[in-house]
Amino acid sequence: MREEIELAYVGVEIPDPAQLTTFFADVIGLVAGEPGAEGSLTWRNDDAVHRVIVDRGPANDVAFLGFAARDPQAFDAVTARLAHAGFDLSDGSLEDLRRRRVGRLARTSAPWGVPVEIVLDLQRVSTPFWSPLVPGGFLTQGVGFGHTVFATAAIDEADRFVVAGLGLVQSDWLEMEIAAGINLEVRFYHGNSRHHSLALARAPFELPQTLHHIMFETKERDDVGAAFDRAWAADLPIPNGLGRHDNDGMFSFYVTSPAGFQVEVGHGARVITDDWDDNRRYDRISVWGHQPLRQA
Ligand SMILES: [Fe+2]
Repeated sequence: MREEIELAYVGVEIPDPAQLTTFFADVIGLVAGEPGAEGSLTWRNDDAVHRVIVDRGPANDVAFLGFAARDPQAFDAVTARLAHAGFDLSDGSLEDLRRRRVGRLARTSAPWGVPVEIVLDLQRVSTPFWSPLVPGGFLTQGVGFGHTVFATAAIDEADRFVVAGLGLVQSDWLEMEIAAGINLEVRFYHGNSRHHSLALARAPFELPQTLHHIMFETKERDDVGAAFDRAWAADLPIPNGLGRHDNDGMFSFYVTSPAGFQVEVGHGARVITDDWDDNRRYDRISVWGHQPLRQA
């Protein structure tokens, strides 16, 4: 396994960043980071200075995605590989480094329409992470903050970007008929022991919202249940109640944020090992559960 990059942060853009404050703080159990420029708000799930950056803007979608390189050699290897695969990069400005709170930054554009930033030395805060709502904390050590899933009509070019460019490896894929004549296809990719840091769903056309969901993994199983209770009590849409995925084995549920994208809170996913040889098709999303509980 290369273990060159891990998911560093995701940026979303919504008209009013404060619209997500109750959701992230009181439902998911993230901790507020320092506010950024121009009214942006930031959220943490570990000691990194920010993991979710909520910018003010009209997109109502993901705005950028950051991958942190393990060291300068990995940074150079990944950026060289992207360039070699035909994905042009530009160096971040000093303003970019200041805003993202990183030492180096190179930016390219993913075929699913999202700027992707390769960064080095994401700052950490000096006070250890503590969320009273998630007492066990989140699993991020060596695996990034979680995973993100996007829908794209350009899945083949996106696959090339991820595999030949970023250097992630496909873990497995899902292919199933979800309704008569309607197929769901999702490809899952890893760059470290997390089963997937990124997944791409084939969309028949570009959807109004590219970001399907962000996943945060708790270290304790009960912290998933407690988050579910908070989502339920908050009367938020719950597109998928508690269940267990077939491919990564994760115990999780999905709640829809006020911005429309979903957040999955999960625990206990399978771990990728150096001898991973289970890259195969799955034809069901879940072993059990994940029922649609409450619609928007
Ligand atoms: Fe997920």
